[in-house]
Amino acid sequence: MGPMKGHASAPGKIILCGEHAVVYGRPAIALPLSGIRAHASVTAGAAGLGIRFDAPDLRRRWLLSAAPNDPLSALALTTLRRLEAVEMPDIQITVTSDIPIASGLGSGAAIATAIVRALAAVFGRDLSAAEVSALVYESEQRYHGTPSGIDNTVIAYEQAIWFQRRSEPPHLIEPLSIAAPFTLLIGDTGVRSATRLPVGEVRRRWQNDPARYEALFDQVADVVHQARRALAEGDVAALGPLLIRNQNLLEQIGVSSPELERLVAAARRAGAAGAKLSGGGWGGVMIALVDPETITPVRTALLEAGATQVLETIVSASA
Ligand code: PMV
Repeated sequence: MGPMKGHASAPGKIILCGEHAVVYGRPAIALPLSGIRAHASVTAGAAGLGIRFDAPDLRRRWLLSAAPNDPLSALALTTLRRLEAVEMPDIQITVTSDIPIASGLGSGAAIATAIVRALAAVFGRDLSAAEVSALVYESEQRYHGTPSGIDNTVIAYEQAIWFQRRSEPPHLIEPLSIAAPFTLLIGDTGVRSATRLPVGEVRRRWQNDPARYEALFDQVADVVHQARRALAEGDVAALGPLLIRNQNLLEQIGVSSPELERLVAAARRAGAAGAKLSGGGWGGVMIALVDPETITPVRTALLEAGATQVLETIVSASA
């Protein structure tokens, strides 16, 4: 084994369209946020202490041996097994992140991805994106029960993806073709929302009235298919109305919130071509499609409507 050192990072993500319906087998489109990242650094630790975690942003520090069931401890153990480590290394794993937590930006999956890759680096191994994604998926299940797998996938591959869950892996994962770049503003409601809560509520509603929810999910799928076509054709103008339709469906599915709707309305009034919540909902972030003329007024409107921060991402053209 080489020196007990390694570092890795992983991006945040947003879901452009298709969240929630994606848990029920419909397609969704997700984009990496390469400028906003989580980092994991492995350094040598005290002899005999095993793995120590230090997560200053989460204000947490713990020994794996004292909290083996913690999701990140469990992730490290599974990763070591995957790396065929014969004994527990004495290391410190320091985790930092620029990604706001519980806001739909994939902070949990990004932290987990960075940890898996940093451990692989320590063991001189290069895991494939598919392998990293599978390890992180297992860890995500500890946080929210029935994740679709889209977060770990877009973050591990770090490219725009079309994702469709199948009942058994492998899920359908395709790189997305984007013919013309576009810009999104990401407005944070400042309301922290754990994804498993709206996901659980949607499941209860679906169980009570499957026909209604299956029909809503089908309408979301239709939006996502049209969005794929618009992106492939470089038809950015078609994208705005699709985001608006997706927001409307998410409201009917029951995962929007007054804070999200205030930001969506403010963005649209200020000229955004489209806007919707992104991710689990009930809080977290929304996205707004802007152009060079509307970017400044939309940013100002979001802040005036109560956004705690506004991030910008330019989605570049791809294959
Ligand atoms: O992690 P979030 O909040 O971006 O939500 C993920 C998207 C959902 O479709 C709501 C859940 C899932 O597992 O796909």
